Amino acid sequence: MTNAEIIELAHSNLINTYGCMPIAFARGHGAYLYDADGNRYLDFFSGLAVTSLGHGHPRVVRAIKEQAEKLTHACNVFHTEPMARLAARIGRAFGDGRVFFANSGAEANEAALKLARRWGHGNGGRFEFISTLGSFHGRTFGTLSATGQEKYHLGFQPLVPGFKLVPYDDVRAVESAIDDKTCAIMVEPIQGEGGVVTPRPDYLGRLRELCDRAKILLIVDEVQTGMGRTGRLFGYQHAGIKPDIITLAKALGGGVPIGAMVAKAELASALAPGTHGSTFGGNPIACAAALAVFDALEEDGVVANAAEVGGYLIGRLREIAKSCPNVREVRGAGMIIGVVLNHEVKPVVEACFSERLVVNGTADYVLRLLPPLVLTRAEADAGLAIIERALHNAAPGSS
Ligand SMILES: Cc1ncc(COP(=O)(O)O)c(C=O)c1O
Repeated sequence: MTNAEIIELAHSNLINTYGCMPIAFARGHGAYLYDADGNRYLDFFSGLAVTSLGHGHPRVVRAIKEQAEKLTHACNVFHTEPMARLAARIGRAFGDGRVFFANSGAEANEAALKLARRWGHGNGGRFEFISTLGSFHGRTFGTLSATGQEKYHLGFQPLVPGFKLVPYDDVRAVESAIDDKTCAIMVEPIQGEGGVVTPRPDYLGRLRELCDRAKILLIVDEVQTGMGRTGRLFGYQHAGIKPDIITLAKALGGGVPIGAMVAKAELASALAPGTHGSTFGGNPIACAAALAVFDALEEDGVVANAAEVGGYLIGRLREIAKSCPNVREVRGAGMIIGVVLNHEVKPVVEACFSERLVVNGTADYVLRLLPPLVLTRAEADAGLAIIERALHNAAPGSS
């Protein structure tokens, strides 16, 4: 089918929740995507921080094929080797963690909220959460209630009770929001959807101290920042702290849907048999793909590349910004980068697409770059040249 035929078929049959770009991708290889008409695009988006090893990574493809030939599904009333091995791998990376598998970021966060609330009920009847303005934690009712962006709430009220929202990167606000009902704080190490908002370096550390003092849980949402995206395996590692619970999804499965909630071992008993579950959670193909992702991250130097090439991208973008009065700030870490504009980001995104560079706009004014962590310097330079032109051409007054 051609681009036009696919788009027409999609428009006639899908519920229109995404406002899609008029492109139908058919295949991918490394940092490149190909549309159904055969046009090649350089990918600085990774399907929203998912295909972090690039498209068609040999380790992931092999793992999926081999597992598909053995067993595609067994359900959680039984054990499977990929699920057991992946739980051990994630638990070890976190440090004596215990894992619940889901299928998406929202579900991983929902599991974290449920564990924390159940833990809170058993620890002094605590049930309230504190999360931050500008955050994004998912679209289920629970995670939507934790999400600090009103535009996502509109039309869905009443939300789930028991959530307090405070400004991001504001320790005092959290401190004053904590009371004897609080069971947990949920926070992103960098607010991705909110505009790649990067907090002060001591933010997570000070939240950790507050949680320790109040004897409540710190939940760090690593759905977008996890699996090497920031140049460390997990975003919280930059702060030198250990959360009580983290959540993973997106890049965990290298393109296959999977989510995971990881809790300190001593919290695991808060969820007993029958208290939570998911039919597809821990699917063998998804777990096999995730094990291949861990192999690549740990054995192929991918996380180091994210730090190195990501640092290069940020440095070059800051150079470029000097000649672009429409750029307010370049921020981020590793390969999660935001170029903050003083005008709407849409024309910059469109200009990049017209030169076949896939980028993303978020929070209206922020150009968000989420390239594959395996990006080479040459690919980085090719993308930067397009971004530089797009920024110049989109500057108000230019034409
Ligand atoms: C930080 C964060 N948490 C949760 C989610 C929700 O993940 P999913 O779309 O897989 O449900 C996202 C999605 O963008 C996210 O960025």
